[in-house]
Amino acid sequence: MADTLTITDNRTGKQYEIPIQDGTIRATDLRQIKVRADEFGMMTYDPAFMNTAACRSKITYIDGDNGILEYRGYPIEQLAEHSDFLETAYLILFGELPTAQQYERWSREITLHTMLHTNIAKLMEAFRHDAHPMGMFLSTVGALSTFYPDAKDIFSEASRRLQTIRLIAKAPSIAAYAFRHSIGRPYNQPDNELGYAGNFLNLLFRMTELEYQPNPVLERALDVLFILHADHEQNCSTSTMRAIGSSHADPYSAMAGAAAALYGPLHGGANEAVLRMLNEIGSIQNVPAFIKRVQAGEERLMGFGHRVYKSYDPRAKIIKRIADLVFEVTGTNPLLEMALELERIALEDDYFVTRKLYPNVDFYSGLIYQAMGFPVDMFPVLFAIPRTAGWIAQWEEMLTDPDQKIARPRQIYVGYSKRDYVSREKRK
Ligand code: CMC
Repeated sequence: MADTLTITDNRTGKQYEIPIQDGTIRATDLRQIKVRADEFGMMTYDPAFMNTAACRSKITYIDGDNGILEYRGYPIEQLAEHSDFLETAYLILFGELPTAQQYERWSREITLHTMLHTNIAKLMEAFRHDAHPMGMFLSTVGALSTFYPDAKDIFSEASRRLQTIRLIAKAPSIAAYAFRHSIGRPYNQPDNELGYAGNFLNLLFRMTELEYQPNPVLERALDVLFILHADHEQNCSTSTMRAIGSSHADPYSAMAGAAAALYGPLHGGANEAVLRMLNEIGSIQNVPAFIKRVQAGEERLMGFGHRVYKSYDPRAKIIKRIADLVFEVTGTNPLLEMALELERIALEDDYFVTRKLYPNVDFYSGLIYQAMGFPVDMFPVLFAIPRTAGWIAQWEEMLTDPDQKIARPRQIYVGYSKRDYVSREKRK
């Protein structure tokens, strides 16, 4: 069996044999297909990249039909059970789980870079009191490029490693400053004795106590949520990170763009949208009427559906289990009952079944965040913190891939053909 695809162009009767590699043909191989020699040649039209592989990647594997997610080959369920966020971030970034010594060094390096330059704090103070924390987060990440001009040295491995450490270490600090700003409380300083999630809770919630002691169940729950959000291959924000990075912008500027892409309600803003939706529905009695509006195309059931998963999102399954543990500590979230009822109806309903719409990562995560004391507009920021690891890993993979060039899609021009300029007084 030859690994080729034979194409007959019925306009000319000509046949072309195109090589197949990994079940894929190269789009540029289609360019030889043309009617006239001076033509540009055949392209593919794929708005929203529904069926286009833009890179070869070794980082994350998703089988959307069977609900499988693996980082560097390790199933998400095993990582959520046994790993912690910093170890998983190391795995995603460097390809292997760290040895005990590597882990020790890596955690130490991250801990030593959690502080923010005082000018960053001043910059963040300039935002209005009601500024959305995600807007503050992405602007501040962009501003970091002016604090670390050495980051422009993107082809130096040592520089990339330093920026990686800075970004992973500072993302929670920026997020916590945004939160404290919104509630009018002074910024807390990092506590080097605490782990990654524990220190984040300290930055967020410490009041006057000398030492902040995070609740171990909540700390672990947050750490597992971070593991689940660490990477998800070529989604909207990751593709943005790669696209901006492909112009050789520094990683802070690229990550500001990635965070902006994550902000939207169809992507990382969905967890926030789920909570707003549940509040709007208001009570369990209103669920059937809401589902009817979704079926009529008047509403979208936020936290449901996915471009890749056409079965239950494996992350949502794990999150549902974590929710039970968190609610034992915090008391249950009153919106949970409504969410469970929405899920129950949706999973039996023809509209959702035929479209293969299942709960995704964002459906239950917001309920946990809310129970832990986060305001709704912090939710996308909580997604952005761990995704930093995935964004940087994907950015670095793109930079070191000899196949990659500046991202530059083609278009099909459907506007006017050439026409002459008409002076203003002669225009109708
Ligand atoms: N509620 C109601 N109908 C839906 C939904 C939904 N949440 N999602 C998809 N559909 C329908 C859609 O209307 C379409 O129906 P039809 O064929 O009759 O026109 C069909 O299902 C296919 O949907 P699509 O919009 O073509 O699918 P997509 O792959 O372009 O969109 C999605 C994927 C995630 C943007 C979409 O499912 C959605 O908007 N979901 C709600 C927002 C959400 O939860 N986003 C978080 C995604 S997971 C985390 C992340 O990536 O950040």
